[in-house]
Amino acid sequence: MLSVVCPGSFDPVTNGHVDIIERASKLADQVYIAVMVNKNKRGLFPVERRIELLGASLEHLDNVSIETFSGLLVDYCQARGARAIVKGLRAVGDFDYELQMAQMNHRLTEVDTLFVATNPLYSFLSSSLIKEVAAFGGDIEGLVPAPVLEPLVAALRSPEPPA
Ligand code: PNS
Repeated sequence: MLSVVCPGSFDPVTNGHVDIIERASKLADQVYIAVMVNKNKRGLFPVERRIELLGASLEHLDNVSIETFSGLLVDYCQARGARAIVKGLRAVGDFDYELQMAQMNHRLTEVDTLFVATNPLYSFLSSSLIKEVAAFGGDIEGLVPAPVLEPLVAALRSPEPPA
């Protein structure tokens, strides 16, 4: 039985995230989506809302559960019995930092990181860029899951209070 963790901020979840999570759910028996709580960084959506939006976007996957974590990712992995972290790699720009984190995480607890090559359809996507485009009225349909569209536009109009 292989359990893996897909970690991130997910503020909000994008179609690029969904693609990686769908592929992780085919590779592993159980996928834990770990939404990082960062008390020093105020996001657009409170963490509970990010979890709701992830849930609504991943209803079709039955071996995925969504939780928050704070502290070290490797401690969360150990608590869940997950042997690997699954991450998407969009382009070489992601590589240096991701490699550094993967090596540190392996040094800490021997948890491995499996990199999945992002679908080229989504390799230009990031939550930050989507928020910027949407904030200026750009069309983000097809870039985020359908349940995220309306809440994102509404939150950019009047941000929700932090979690
Ligand atoms: O979606 P993001 O913001 O790129 O996700 C980054 C995340 C959550 C994967 C990363 O910041 C992380 O693992 N944070 C947890 C704290 C931790 O374990 N730090 C040491 C990493 S080697």
